[in-house]
Amino acid sequence: MLKQCKLCGEPASVRVPYARLSLCPKHFTEYVERHVRNTIKRYKLIKSGDRVVLAISGGKDSLALLHILNNLRGEVGFELSALNIDLGIRKDDYSLKAVQISEKYCRELGVELAKVDMKRDFGFTIDEVFSSNHVRRPICSSCGVIKRYVTNKVAVELGANSLATGHNLDDESAVLLSNYVKADIDLLVRSGPMLPSRGERMVSRIKPLYETSEKETTLYNFFKGIQHLEQKCPYASGASTLRLKEVVNALEEEWVGSKIALVRSFNKKIKPILAEHYSKNSKDIDLCEACGYPTSTKICSFCRLKKSVSKNC
Ligand code: AMP
Ligand code: FES
Ligand code: ZN
Ligand code: ZN
Repeated sequence: MLKQCKLCGEPASVRVPYARLSLCPKHFTEYVERHVRNTIKRYKLIKSGDRVVLAISGGKDSLALLHILNNLRGEVGFELSALNIDLGIRKDDYSLKAVQISEKYCRELGVELAKVDMKRDFGFTIDEVFSSNHVRRPICSSCGVIKRYVTNKVAVELGANSLATGHNLDDESAVLLSNYVKADIDLLVRSGPMLPSRGERMVSRIKPLYETSEKETTLYNFFKGIQHLEQKCPYASGASTLRLKEVVNALEEEWVGSKIALVRSFNKKIKPILAEHYSKNSKDIDLCEACGYPTSTKICSFCRLKKSVSKNC
């Protein structure tokens, strides 16, 4: 049962079991902001003078993060701009709505938005990846290749040193668990709240919502009146990811704080050991012969994907 807000005595609207707090909307939103600020500090994600580009999808996590980072930029002393990719998903006007909602919120906050249109800027869309039936990769994994490549390229072109994304605690703890089960050392070593640049034409990637849950960002947007795209991507099958999230949330119910414990213990104790092993065995990073951006193969996966779409469309 909800009681009074622990901080002001007003009726509480939210219970945060992990922090053992019942909070009113005002103190809950302040709690989320403090939590994100602490994550940034704990993992040294942003420092004064940084130029941060935040990739926004129009979804709840990236728009909540845009609001929070926009309020933090003066205090920490970093520059902030946003980036949205129109992936060209026409079903249910998915991409159109995602672009419009991203533009509207950036305008409201006065944050500069770099807009990428996959068709105009790169010559192909996710719909075309889907219809080029010779592409054997699952669509979400091709989409991941595109987002990683495009966000890095645009951030480099904008002169940024960091690319932030809205990946949250539920995403990260679920993926971590799955990588543990598969003992996928390559993926484990590349996960975490920060992936530093490994050389030329590569920005660091940061996840300031690494310790903030999906429920927290949803409530944050609700209390702040932030409109986000509720619709799910029409290509998302997501069954296995959803199931994994249910598993970590069931664990959280049994053992309060287990999601944060999972990601913190990984970063503190396991990742340093894996990173050492990996640095001895990892492949060198080169520049793609076709586009000049980082890759560990002759031609990067984005250029290979693009070629295969243009051949098969
Ligand atoms: P997802 O891959 O959909 O789980 O999204 C994870 C994060 O990637 C989001 O929180 C955003 O930061 C970023 N992202 C996803 N889709 C886009 C997009 N179309 N444009 C820019 N950033 C995106
Ligand atoms: Fe990439 Fe759905 S957003 S396939
Ligand atoms: Zn209160
Ligand atoms: Zn390339």
